[in-house]
Amino acid sequence: MKILGIESSCDETAAAVVEDGRRVLSNVIASQVEEHKIYGGVVPEIASRRHTEAICTVVKKALADANCTLDEIDAVAVTYAPGLIGALLVGVNYAKGLCYSAKKPLVPVHHLRGHIAANYISDENIKPPFMALVVSGGHSHIINVKSYTDFEIIGRTRDDAAGEAMDKAARTVGLPYPGGVNLDKIAKDGDENKYKFPVPKLADSKYDFSFSGLKTFAVNLVHNASQKGETVKAEDLGASFIKAVTDILASHTMAAAKEYGAKKIVLAGGVSANSRLRRIMEEKCTCEGIELYKPELKYCGDNAAMIAAQGYYEYIKGECETEFHDLSLNAVASKPIDE
Ligand code: KG4
Ligand code: ZN
Repeated sequence: MKILGIESSCDETAAAVVEDGRRVLSNVIASQVEEHKIYGGVVPEIASRRHTEAICTVVKKALADANCTLDEIDAVAVTYAPGLIGALLVGVNYAKGLCYSAKKPLVPVHHLRGHIAANYISDENIKPPFMALVVSGGHSHIINVKSYTDFEIIGRTRDDAAGEAMDKAARTVGLPYPGGVNLDKIAKDGDENKYKFPVPKLADSKYDFSFSGLKTFAVNLVHNASQKGETVKAEDLGASFIKAVTDILASHTMAAAKEYGAKKIVLAGGVSANSRLRRIMEEKCTCEGIELYKPELKYCGDNAAMIAAQGYYEYIKGECETEFHDLSLNAVASKPIDE
Protein backbone atom coordinates (compact mmCIF):
# COMPACT_ATOMS: atom_id res chain seq x y z
CA MET A 1 0.00 0.00 0.00
CA LYS A 2 1.50 3.32 -1.12
CA ILE A 3 0.83 6.51 0.83
CA LEU A 4 1.74 9.99 -0.40
CA GLY A 5 2.69 12.15 2.61
CA ILE A 6 2.60 15.95 2.66
CA GLU A 7 4.15 18.14 5.39
CA SER A 8 4.08 21.94 5.66
CA SER A 9 3.66 22.71 9.38
CA CYS A 10 6.70 24.99 9.77
CA ASP A 11 9.50 25.93 7.37
CA GLU A 12 9.92 22.77 5.29
CA THR A 13 7.71 21.95 2.32
CA ALA A 14 7.92 18.17 2.05
CA ALA A 15 6.37 15.27 0.17
CA ALA A 16 7.20 11.56 0.20
CA VAL A 17 5.89 8.19 -0.91
CA VAL A 18 6.14 5.36 1.63
CA GLU A 19 5.07 1.75 1.14
CA ASP A 20 3.31 -0.11 3.98
CA GLY A 21 4.43 2.47 6.54
CA ARG A 22 8.05 1.30 6.38
CA ARG A 23 9.68 1.50 2.95
CA VAL A 24 10.59 5.00 1.74
CA LEU A 25 10.22 5.22 -2.06
CA SER A 26 10.89 8.97 -2.18
CA ASN A 27 11.48 11.82 0.26
CA VAL A 28 11.61 15.39 -1.03
CA ILE A 29 12.22 18.42 1.20
CA ALA A 30 12.32 22.08 0.14
CA SER A 31 13.80 23.93 3.12
CA GLN A 32 13.27 27.64 3.73
CA VAL A 33 15.99 27.84 6.40
CA GLU A 34 18.26 30.20 4.46
CA GLU A 35 15.50 32.77 4.07
CA HIS A 36 14.39 32.69 7.73
CA LYS A 37 18.02 32.84 8.92
CA ILE A 38 18.13 36.57 8.11
CA TYR A 39 15.37 37.16 10.72
CA GLY A 40 16.81 34.82 13.37
CA GLY A 41 13.76 32.51 13.27
CA VAL A 42 10.74 31.44 11.24
CA VAL A 43 8.56 34.30 9.94
CA PRO A 44 5.09 32.69 9.62
CA GLU A 45 3.84 34.84 6.71
CA ILE A 46 6.97 34.16 4.65
CA ALA A 47 6.69 30.44 5.47
CA SER A 48 3.11 30.27 4.11
CA ARG A 49 4.05 32.04 0.89
CA ARG A 50 7.05 29.82 0.24
CA HIS A 51 4.95 26.68 0.86
CA THR A 52 2.45 27.90 -1.73
CA GLU A 53 5.25 28.40 -4.27
CA ALA A 54 6.98 25.07 -3.58
CA ILE A 55 4.22 22.55 -2.97
CA CYS A 56 3.33 21.57 -6.57
CA THR A 57 6.95 20.96 -7.54
CA VAL A 58 7.73 19.08 -4.34
CA VAL A 59 4.74 16.71 -4.68
CA LYS A 60 5.44 16.10 -8.39
CA LYS A 61 9.07 15.29 -7.60
CA ALA A 62 8.07 12.92 -4.79
CA LEU A 63 5.84 10.97 -7.21
CA ALA A 64 8.50 11.01 -9.95
CA ASP A 65 11.28 9.87 -7.57
CA ALA A 66 9.05 7.04 -6.35
CA ASN A 67 8.46 6.13 -9.98
CA CYS A 68 4.69 6.15 -9.55
CA THR A 69 1.66 8.13 -10.67
CA LEU A 70 -1.05 9.62 -8.49
CA ASP A 71 -3.30 6.79 -9.71
CA GLU A 72 -1.03 4.24 -8.04
CA ILE A 73 -1.25 6.04 -4.67
CA ASP A 74 -3.71 4.45 -2.18
CA ALA A 75 -4.20 7.49 0.08
CA VAL A 76 -2.87 10.99 0.77
CA ALA A 77 -1.67 11.69 4.34
CA VAL A 78 -1.21 15.28 5.40
CA THR A 79 -0.04 17.08 8.55
CA TYR A 80 -3.10 18.99 9.79
CA ALA A 81 -1.93 19.83 13.37
CA PRO A 82 -0.12 21.28 15.25
CA GLY A 83 1.96 24.04 13.61
CA LEU A 84 1.84 27.48 12.04
CA ILE A 85 -1.74 27.83 10.87
CA GLY A 86 -1.00 29.57 7.57
CA ALA A 87 1.71 27.02 6.79
CA LEU A 88 -0.50 24.01 7.67
CA LEU A 89 -3.34 25.35 5.54
CA VAL A 90 -1.19 25.15 2.39
CA GLY A 91 -0.52 21.41 2.81
CA VAL A 92 -4.06 20.61 3.97
CA ASN A 93 -5.74 22.42 1.09
CA TYR A 94 -3.35 20.98 -1.47
CA ALA A 95 -3.99 17.46 -0.13
CA LYS A 96 -7.75 18.03 -0.18
CA GLY A 97 -7.55 19.21 -3.80
CA LEU A 98 -5.56 16.11 -4.79
CA CYS A 99 -7.98 13.77 -3.01
CA TYR A 100 -11.02 15.44 -4.55
CA SER A 101 -9.68 15.35 -8.09
CA ALA A 102 -8.06 11.89 -7.94
CA LYS A 103 -10.76 10.34 -5.70
CA LYS A 104 -8.31 9.22 -3.01
CA PRO A 105 -8.89 8.88 0.74
CA LEU A 106 -7.55 11.77 2.82
CA VAL A 107 -5.70 10.81 6.01
CA PRO A 108 -5.07 13.58 8.58
CA VAL A 109 -1.82 13.11 10.54
CA HIS A 110 -0.77 14.78 13.79
CA HIS A 111 2.76 16.17 13.34
CA LEU A 112 4.15 14.66 16.57
CA ARG A 113 2.71 11.24 15.73
CA GLY A 114 4.67 11.64 12.50
CA HIS A 115 7.89 12.37 14.37
CA ILE A 116 7.45 9.14 16.35
CA ALA A 117 6.76 7.25 13.09
CA ALA A 118 10.16 8.39 11.75
CA ASN A 119 11.42 5.43 13.78
CA TYR A 120 9.27 2.96 11.78
CA ILE A 121 11.14 3.88 8.60
CA SER A 122 14.53 3.87 10.32
CA ASP A 123 14.11 0.43 11.90
CA GLU A 124 11.67 -2.15 10.56
CA ASN A 125 11.61 -4.04 13.88
CA ILE A 126 10.24 -1.30 16.12
CA LYS A 127 6.60 -1.74 17.11
CA PRO A 128 4.54 -0.20 19.94
CA PRO A 129 4.18 -0.39 22.89
CA PHE A 130 7.10 1.85 23.90
CA MET A 131 7.92 5.05 25.77
CA ALA A 132 8.72 7.99 23.46
CA LEU A 133 10.66 11.17 24.14
CA VAL A 134 9.42 13.67 21.54
CA VAL A 135 11.54 16.81 21.49
CA SER A 136 11.15 19.41 18.77
CA GLY A 137 11.21 23.17 18.31
CA GLY A 138 7.65 23.53 19.60
CA HIS A 139 7.10 20.49 21.87
CA SER A 140 8.73 18.39 24.56
CA HIS A 141 6.73 15.35 25.59
CA ILE A 142 7.20 11.98 27.22
CA ILE A 143 4.55 9.79 25.63
CA ASN A 144 3.39 6.29 26.41
CA VAL A 145 2.78 4.90 22.92
CA LYS A 146 0.32 2.05 23.51
CA SER A 147 -0.31 1.27 19.85
CA TYR A 148 0.33 2.97 16.48
CA THR A 149 -2.67 5.22 17.12
CA ASP A 150 -3.11 5.27 20.90
CA PHE A 151 -1.04 7.79 22.87
CA GLU A 152 -0.91 8.87 26.51
CA ILE A 153 1.03 11.99 27.54
CA ILE A 154 3.09 11.27 30.65
CA GLY A 155 5.09 14.51 30.82
CA ARG A 156 5.33 17.79 28.94
CA THR A 157 7.12 21.11 29.10
CA ARG A 158 5.50 23.83 31.17
CA ASP A 159 7.19 26.63 29.20
CA ASP A 160 9.82 26.46 26.43
CA ALA A 161 10.28 23.35 24.30
CA ALA A 162 13.75 21.76 24.37
CA GLY A 163 14.49 22.87 20.78
CA GLU A 164 13.25 26.39 21.47
CA ALA A 165 15.58 26.57 24.51
CA MET A 166 18.50 25.29 22.39
CA ASP A 167 17.76 27.93 19.74
CA LYS A 168 17.62 30.73 22.33
CA ALA A 169 20.85 29.64 24.03
CA ALA A 170 22.53 29.51 20.61
CA ARG A 171 21.37 33.06 19.88
CA THR A 172 22.81 34.22 23.22
CA VAL A 173 26.29 33.23 22.04
CA GLY A 174 25.75 34.70 18.56
CA LEU A 175 25.07 31.50 16.61
CA PRO A 176 22.72 31.78 13.60
CA TYR A 177 19.32 30.06 13.23
CA PRO A 178 18.76 27.09 13.36
CA GLY A 179 20.52 27.34 16.70
CA GLY A 180 20.21 23.79 18.08
CA VAL A 181 22.25 22.12 15.39
CA ASN A 182 24.94 24.83 15.51
CA LEU A 183 25.11 24.61 19.31
CA ASP A 184 25.55 20.84 19.00
CA LYS A 185 28.48 21.37 16.58
CA ILE A 186 30.43 23.85 18.72
CA ALA A 187 29.68 22.00 21.98
CA LYS A 188 32.01 19.21 20.82
CA ASP A 189 34.97 21.59 21.50
CA GLY A 190 33.63 22.86 24.83
CA ASP A 191 33.88 21.91 28.51
CA GLU A 192 30.43 20.69 29.58
CA ASN A 193 31.34 21.09 33.26
CA LYS A 194 32.43 24.72 32.96
CA TYR A 195 29.04 26.20 33.94
CA LYS A 196 26.68 24.59 36.41
CA PHE A 197 23.10 25.22 35.33
CA PRO A 198 20.27 25.00 37.87
CA VAL A 199 18.12 21.86 37.81
CA PRO A 200 14.46 22.94 37.54
CA LYS A 201 12.19 21.14 40.03
CA LEU A 202 8.43 20.94 39.58
CA ALA A 203 6.82 20.00 42.88
CA ASP A 204 3.64 18.57 41.33
CA SER A 205 5.03 16.42 38.53
CA LYS A 206 7.87 13.92 38.17
CA TYR A 207 7.88 14.00 34.39
CA ASP A 208 7.10 17.57 33.31
CA PHE A 209 9.91 19.83 32.09
CA SER A 210 10.73 23.51 32.50
CA PHE A 211 13.49 25.00 30.35
CA SER A 212 12.88 28.74 30.51
CA GLY A 213 15.01 29.14 33.67
CA LEU A 214 17.99 27.53 31.93
CA LYS A 215 17.66 29.98 29.06
CA THR A 216 17.55 32.94 31.50
CA PHE A 217 20.60 31.53 33.29
CA ALA A 218 22.50 31.45 29.98
CA VAL A 219 21.48 35.03 29.13
CA ASN A 220 22.57 36.25 32.60
CA LEU A 221 25.91 34.46 32.33
CA VAL A 222 26.70 36.28 29.09
CA HIS A 223 25.48 39.69 30.38
CA ASN A 224 27.32 39.45 33.69
CA ALA A 225 30.54 38.50 31.92
CA SER A 226 30.26 41.37 29.43
CA GLN A 227 29.63 43.87 32.27
CA LYS A 228 32.93 42.75 33.78
CA GLY A 229 34.63 43.10 30.39
CA GLU A 230 34.96 39.31 30.11
CA THR A 231 33.69 36.99 27.38
CA VAL A 232 32.02 33.65 27.74
CA LYS A 233 33.50 30.96 25.52
CA ALA A 234 30.59 29.92 23.27
CA GLU A 235 31.82 26.30 23.13
CA ASP A 236 31.80 25.98 26.95
CA LEU A 237 28.41 27.61 27.36
CA GLY A 238 26.98 25.49 24.54
CA ALA A 239 28.37 22.26 26.00
CA SER A 240 27.19 23.10 29.55
CA PHE A 241 23.73 24.12 28.31
CA ILE A 242 23.30 20.96 26.24
CA LYS A 243 24.45 18.87 29.23
CA ALA A 244 21.82 20.55 31.44
CA VAL A 245 18.96 20.06 28.97
CA THR A 246 19.84 16.52 27.87
CA ASP A 247 20.46 15.29 31.45
CA ILE A 248 16.93 16.40 32.37
CA LEU A 249 15.38 14.86 29.24
CA ALA A 250 17.21 11.58 29.82
CA SER A 251 16.52 11.25 33.56
CA HIS A 252 12.78 11.96 33.19
CA THR A 253 12.44 9.55 30.27
CA MET A 254 14.30 6.76 32.06
CA ALA A 255 12.18 7.27 35.20
CA ALA A 256 8.95 7.16 33.16
CA ALA A 257 10.09 4.01 31.32
CA LYS A 258 10.86 2.31 34.62
CA GLU A 259 7.58 3.28 36.28
CA TYR A 260 5.53 2.15 33.27
CA GLY A 261 7.60 -1.00 32.77
CA ALA A 262 8.59 -0.01 29.21
CA LYS A 263 11.11 -2.33 27.56
CA LYS A 264 11.70 0.04 24.64
CA ILE A 265 12.40 3.77 24.39
CA VAL A 266 12.05 5.77 21.19
CA LEU A 267 13.56 9.21 20.52
CA ALA A 268 11.79 11.57 18.12
CA GLY A 269 11.73 15.17 16.86
CA GLY A 270 14.42 17.62 15.74
CA VAL A 271 16.28 17.55 19.07
CA SER A 272 16.63 13.75 18.84
CA ALA A 273 19.46 14.57 16.38
CA ASN A 274 21.46 15.95 19.30
CA SER A 275 24.66 13.95 19.64
CA ARG A 276 24.85 14.11 23.45
CA LEU A 277 21.20 13.13 23.91
CA ARG A 278 21.70 10.11 21.61
CA ARG A 279 24.91 9.10 23.44
CA ILE A 280 23.65 9.35 27.02
CA MET A 281 20.36 7.65 26.20
CA GLU A 282 22.34 4.82 24.63
CA GLU A 283 24.46 4.50 27.79
CA LYS A 284 21.52 4.62 30.19
CA CYS A 285 19.41 2.17 28.17
CA THR A 286 22.30 -0.30 27.92
CA CYS A 287 22.69 -0.10 31.72
CA GLU A 288 18.98 -0.72 32.32
CA GLY A 289 18.54 -3.41 29.65
CA ILE A 290 16.10 -1.22 27.67
CA GLU A 291 16.16 -1.18 23.86
CA LEU A 292 16.73 2.29 22.42
CA TYR A 293 15.48 3.39 18.98
CA LYS A 294 16.58 6.62 17.32
CA PRO A 295 15.51 7.96 13.93
CA GLU A 296 18.21 8.24 11.27
CA LEU A 297 19.52 11.81 11.31
CA LYS A 298 17.81 12.60 7.99
CA TYR A 299 14.41 11.72 9.53
CA CYS A 300 14.85 13.62 12.85
CA GLY A 301 13.82 17.01 11.44
CA ASP A 302 10.58 17.75 9.60
CA ASN A 303 9.96 15.52 6.58
CA ALA A 304 7.00 13.92 4.84
CA ALA A 305 8.21 10.30 4.93
CA MET A 306 7.34 10.24 8.64
CA ILE A 307 3.87 11.64 7.83
CA ALA A 308 3.29 8.97 5.18
CA ALA A 309 4.52 6.29 7.61
CA GLN A 310 2.10 7.37 10.35
CA GLY A 311 -0.56 7.94 7.67
CA TYR A 312 -0.36 4.24 6.81
CA TYR A 313 -1.25 3.23 10.38
CA GLU A 314 -4.00 5.85 10.62
CA TYR A 315 -5.31 4.60 7.25
CA ILE A 316 -5.38 0.98 8.40
CA LYS A 317 -7.26 2.04 11.52
CA GLY A 318 -9.68 4.18 9.49
CA GLU A 319 -10.26 1.35 7.03
CA CYS A 320 -11.12 -1.06 9.84
CA GLU A 321 -13.52 1.42 11.36
CA THR A 322 -14.66 2.74 7.93
CA GLU A 323 -13.89 6.24 9.09
CA PHE A 324 -12.02 8.13 6.36
CA HIS A 325 -11.82 11.81 6.82
CA ASP A 326 -14.04 13.80 4.53
CA LEU A 327 -12.93 16.94 2.72
CA SER A 328 -14.16 19.22 5.52
CA LEU A 329 -10.77 18.66 7.23
CA ASN A 330 -9.28 21.90 8.57
CA ALA A 331 -5.81 22.78 9.82
CA VAL A 332 -5.45 23.17 13.62
CA ALA A 333 -2.61 25.24 15.13
CA SER A 334 -2.64 23.53 18.52
CA LYS A 335 -3.87 20.02 19.32
CA PRO A 336 -2.66 17.39 21.80
CA ILE A 337 -1.29 14.13 20.37
CA ASP A 338 -3.73 12.00 22.36
CA GLU A 339 -7.01 13.48 21.03
O1 KG4 B 1 11.14 18.64 14.77
P1 KG4 B 1 11.74 19.86 14.22
O2 KG4 B 1 12.56 19.77 12.96
O3 KG4 B 1 10.67 20.97 13.98
C1 KG4 B 1 9.58 21.14 14.84
O4 KG4 B 1 8.60 20.35 14.70
O5 KG4 B 1 9.69 22.03 15.69
O6 KG4 B 1 12.66 20.46 15.40
C2 KG4 B 1 13.41 21.61 15.22
C3 KG4 B 1 14.20 21.86 16.48
C4 KG4 B 1 14.89 23.21 16.44
O7 KG4 B 1 14.66 23.89 17.66
C5 KG4 B 1 16.36 22.84 16.27
O8 KG4 B 1 17.25 23.76 16.82
C6 KG4 B 1 16.42 21.52 17.02
O9 KG4 B 1 15.22 20.87 16.65
N1 KG4 B 1 17.58 20.71 16.63
C7 KG4 B 1 18.59 20.38 17.46
C8 KG4 B 1 19.52 19.64 16.70
N2 KG4 B 1 19.04 19.55 15.42
C9 KG4 B 1 17.86 20.23 15.40
N3 KG4 B 1 18.78 20.63 18.78
C10 KG4 B 1 19.89 20.15 19.34
N4 KG4 B 1 20.83 19.43 18.68
C11 KG4 B 1 20.68 19.15 17.36
N5 KG4 B 1 21.61 18.44 16.71
ZN1 ZN C 1 8.62 18.80 13.69
